Amino acid sequence: MARLRLTLVRRVECEVVVERGAVRELATLWRPDWEAAAVIGDDNVIALHGGRLRDLLAPVARKIAVLGFLPGEASKTRATKEDLEDRLLAGGFGRRSCIVALGGGVSLDLAGFVAATYLRGVAHVNVPTTLTAQVDAGIGGKTGVDTSFGKNLVGAFHQPVAVVVDPELLETLPAGERRNGLAEMVKTAVVADEELFSWMEGHTPALAAPNPLDAHAIARCVEAKCGVVRDDETETGRRAVLNFGHTIGHAIESASSFAIPHGVAVAMGMVVEARLAVALTGLPEEHARRVETLISKLGLTPFPRVPFEAVRPFLAADKKNRAGEVRVALPARIGVMARTPGGEWTHVATPQRIEEAYARHLR
Ligand code: GLY
Repeated sequence: MARLRLTLVRRVECEVVVERGAVRELATLWRPDWEAAAVIGDDNVIALHGGRLRDLLAPVARKIAVLGFLPGEASKTRATKEDLEDRLLAGGFGRRSCIVALGGGVSLDLAGFVAATYLRGVAHVNVPTTLTAQVDAGIGGKTGVDTSFGKNLVGAFHQPVAVVVDPELLETLPAGERRNGLAEMVKTAVVADEELFSWMEGHTPALAAPNPLDAHAIARCVEAKCGVVRDDETETGRRAVLNFGHTIGHAIESASSFAIPHGVAVAMGMVVEARLAVALTGLPEEHARRVETLISKLGLTPFPRVPFEAVRPFLAADKKNRAGEVRVALPARIGVMARTPGGEWTHVATPQRIEEAYARHLR
């Protein structure tokens, strides 16, 4: 078991519990001043776990609502948020309510954003149910919705009071969803935990399916992410390192109109960005090969073919760009991210450099 306490400068403490069966502890994390619980998740996750959460909260919450919405990224909108808010208002949920965000990235981003603005902000607890959400999206307080102008463009930093990470919840996860999470795990290891990376290299067959080792790997990721977020909660600097693989990855995802799963796109992005790192930040060639090999052994290859011409326009729209230049978070070695001589955590990559690195692997 790992209990990690993430103390943040701007707000309260966030307690993260990582343990098989941790969801059974939900009631022990309940604060005496909370009167009502609103469990929010998509209809699939509510069907799987909503009833159980209601039972777990019944001894501590005076009033409980379980609110579902249609599954899928298409629901992560201002319209769904408004609908959830209206249901909470109609149900008379006051400021002493706690929102229990249940599910993967979409549910947590959406429910967390509802918590950030409902009655000017109420408490929330995250219960992530996908590997991606347990190692990444559920930690760090990013909440938000998509707009027709792009993903995650409206939102807030709103730290959950607690995050309950229960690897047993992963047992119902489809294999493709698990691979998405493994890609985020590789990212976290490259960014901040060389030991985890080596451990993953030694456990690739086991990692393919849910198993008791998950708790160890997830706890390492949570710890690494907490370390980064503690330094830079609102991404004014170091937190940008968590975008390793995502600059190219997001552009690939968008170029495929989201037909390529997030984890596969991020894996493709990490392979290209590791190549960029060999050229720009001195990543040893051998480390780039280790990243490629691990990704392949985790079942994230063969990669689909996406021509660079389709990807290029989306790179130009990346949120990290400055003065028209694409900026990428790059490792100096596995477990250590590189800074520019001026101390910045992202590096300028010219379109030509990106195309060269892309051409080497992806077409
Ligand atoms: N998923 C990246 C971050 O939380 O900053």
